[in-house]
Amino acid sequence: MDFKGSNVLSVRQFTLENLETVFNVANRMEKFASRQAQTKVLEGAILANLFFEPSTRTRISFGCAFNRLGGYVNDTVGFEFSSIVKGESLSDTSRVLSGYSDIIVVRHPTKGSVAKFAEATNVPIINGGDGIGEHPTQALLDIYTVYKEIGSDFQKINGLSIALVGDLKNGRTVHSLARLLSLFKNITFYLVAPPELGMPDSVLDTIASHGHRVIITSDLKEGIADADVVYTTRIQEERFESEEEYKKYRGFFKLSREFYERESKKRATIMHPLPRDSREIYCELDTDLNGHPNMAIFRQTDNGIPVRMALFALILGVEDKVEEYEKKVIWYVPDSFGKF
Ligand code: NCD
Repeated sequence: MDFKGSNVLSVRQFTLENLETVFNVANRMEKFASRQAQTKVLEGAILANLFFEPSTRTRISFGCAFNRLGGYVNDTVGFEFSSIVKGESLSDTSRVLSGYSDIIVVRHPTKGSVAKFAEATNVPIINGGDGIGEHPTQALLDIYTVYKEIGSDFQKINGLSIALVGDLKNGRTVHSLARLLSLFKNITFYLVAPPELGMPDSVLDTIASHGHRVIITSDLKEGIADADVVYTTRIQEERFESEEEYKKYRGFFKLSREFYERESKKRATIMHPLPRDSREIYCELDTDLNGHPNMAIFRQTDNGIPVRMALFALILGVEDKVEEYEKKVIWYVPDSFGKF
């Protein structure tokens, strides 16, 4: 894809070369994300950040990434505060907002709805998650995290084994991540899910068409034993028809420190798109792993900033001007970004 002026709706748009471009620009964004410097390259630009589903980190990290480039962010949260409750169509909302802003991020509960939103406007649209469909920017920051955890060597992603654990049917992050990882060579996918919550066939087809190895299991021990990356996910409570249905799966997988240290490879990186469900009966990723050197979940959330900054810069065509608009940071900044 040619980034300038483009929408980002699905990971299917990306080539390996695109991915490397995003990572290279993201690397340059790190000093701004960690506040060693600031840049005003997007001063005057406006992001409309439209979230029709719950979100903490995705919405705020899109917003902060835009702010860190010097741009202004306009947030709308939930249907109840938008004109959609008055019967306005998504395409009217889209057209209206395109008159007010330079770029729009949308999260919506219906699969395919962000693509529909994009049809009604000419300003670039980024998919911040469309129901059980996709979450392309999460996949970008997830693979960027893997890349950094293994020493910032793009080629070393080839040949990795990754365990995707949890609700693979309803989790959009794992759909996008599996598809995007399929661009690399010789990946081994351990797909670890309750039998009813397995990876959709369309994603399995993508993995298969690239010739990767797939092991499907509902046994966590078997699923993580050989993995270089253990990517845990939440059972997607809000996607189930009834509480009854959902309750069958809560607590199905629990990755604790003791289990991890006993069953996984010594260096296996632990990831999670977050939020993790920390209630006792759920707890897919135990807080007792906090502080473990392989626990990358907060480095992963930190990585959301440089990756989203890179995307904004590329889409708005300022990736080469970021340093030209650089300024000093004069306020107190702790040295903790990307550290633990
Ligand atoms: C995920 C999402 O919303 O798809 N969170 C995120 O964006 N980082 C995962 C989830 O809600 O379980």
